Amino acid sequence: MKICVLVGSPKGEDSVTLQTVLYWEKMFPGHSWEFLQVGRQIKKLEKDFEEAAGKLEAADLLLFCYPVYTFIVPSQLHRFIELMKIQISSGNLHIAGKKAAQITTSKHFYDVTALAFIKENCQDMGLSYLGALSADMEDLLHKKGQKEARQFFRYIMWRAGKGICDPVIKRPAERPFYYVPMPEKKVKWEPVASEKGKKRPENEVVIVTDLSDNPLDPSASRVLSEMIADFRSRYQGPSRVVDLAQYPFKGGCLGCFRCASDGVCIYKDGFDRFLREEIQTAAAIVYAFQIRDHSMGARFKMYDDRQFCNGHRTVTMGMPVGYLVCGNLDEEPNLRMIMEARADVGGNFLAGIAADGKGVCDLAAELTYALRTGISLPKRFYGVGGLKIFRDLIFQMRGLMKEDHRFYKEHKFYDFPQNQPGKIAFMYLAGAMMTNPVMRKKMGGKMTEGMLLPYRKVLEEAQAKRK
Ligand SMILES: Cc1cc2nc3c(=O)[nH]c(=O)nc-3n(C[C@H](O)[C@H](O)[C@H](O)COP(=O)(O)O)c2cc1C
Repeated sequence: MKICVLVGSPKGEDSVTLQTVLYWEKMFPGHSWEFLQVGRQIKKLEKDFEEAAGKLEAADLLLFCYPVYTFIVPSQLHRFIELMKIQISSGNLHIAGKKAAQITTSKHFYDVTALAFIKENCQDMGLSYLGALSADMEDLLHKKGQKEARQFFRYIMWRAGKGICDPVIKRPAERPFYYVPMPEKKVKWEPVASEKGKKRPENEVVIVTDLSDNPLDPSASRVLSEMIADFRSRYQGPSRVVDLAQYPFKGGCLGCFRCASDGVCIYKDGFDRFLREEIQTAAAIVYAFQIRDHSMGARFKMYDDRQFCNGHRTVTMGMPVGYLVCGNLDEEPNLRMIMEARADVGGNFLAGIAADGKGVCDLAAELTYALRTGISLPKRFYGVGGLKIFRDLIFQMRGLMKEDHRFYKEHKFYDFPQNQPGKIAFMYLAGAMMTNPVMRKKMGGKMTEGMLLPYRKVLEEAQAKRK
């Protein structure tokens, strides 16, 4: 089979993920392999797509090979997918009907959303999707990981031979783009008392957006601007717009880890400072974007990836966030999950998602409420699970990720269960009592009663406060 590997890592030939593909190349002779360095050479590919188109068209199987970057794929690969779609729509790339599969490596922090993103885009381009291997960075170093890698390759070859692929999710081909603001009332603003020494007003909202033109949807940026204007007219506090289309990014995150110990990015485009001084100083953030390729678009992805200079630190913790979305969000469960999970992991109150004009007024009201009350709710599975992965990772890598380690210690993120010797000893005692038939009989329903004792105390205290 002719396999074209789309190497999405900006590390190019030094990519960890690529090593599994090279392993397959050695283990399964008889296939031809072509490598497209889309992560490393994106700027060149933006200028000239012809050679890449030739390689893609000559292949039977397109193999997406990339690291998970902030819930999805590196911005460079995201951009390449944008380019592929533009080429397809202008009749310069013909790949419909070819087979597609993906291999990614990560620490499994939201690998699921990255996998769904690639699958959705493959299916948009008419590719027959065969499956995904999501491996830990180090899997290939162990016999088990090598076996799984071999099994996966045989599996997709078997699927390809049998003509079995994943069923396509049906979506409407087009949707009309128009914006009709909801006839809602303005929100009454009750000012938040400002704290001394803070540079910006306590209720300032920064609206981060990408207003660049979308060649596949020319009206989208106008619609998005209208949504932003509508939001600003309804939100009674101060607001600012940061248009990422105007920001002079030097490029996407290179995954070089230079920022790991001191938080300073290798690029000299001032983004790390901009982030800290222009975004993180606001009271709340609203992300306004048009749905592009089942995501927020490659430019927004560049902004997300470049935040790696903050490492794994939840630096906007406590800031409410909201979304203004231009596009049919009902069709995008994976994107919705990314938005919800981001807020949950980051410790941000999600004040609302307004899509296609619906809910703009509610978002303004909820942000106002969130800023006035400082509401903060417990994390759910998305946040709890995600932070456990980070906790274990940073603890292991604390020698390198010095800033992260400091932050995790300071914010008590190292909540390892073994740090609770009292609780563990108590459970041993309870376990010993429950395995003894005499004790178990004696205890009867006292176990549940015992568990409720501390809650009773809380209720009694609440009762006492009422008096
Ligand atoms: C900017 C950036 C973002 C990352 N985001 C994630 C992530 O969301 N989830 C995860 O599990 N790992 C994440 N990682 C770790 C990479 O996925 C992991 O190191 C991968 O194996 C690197 O593969 P490569 O050498 O092929 O680039 C991130 C790394 C970088 C540099």
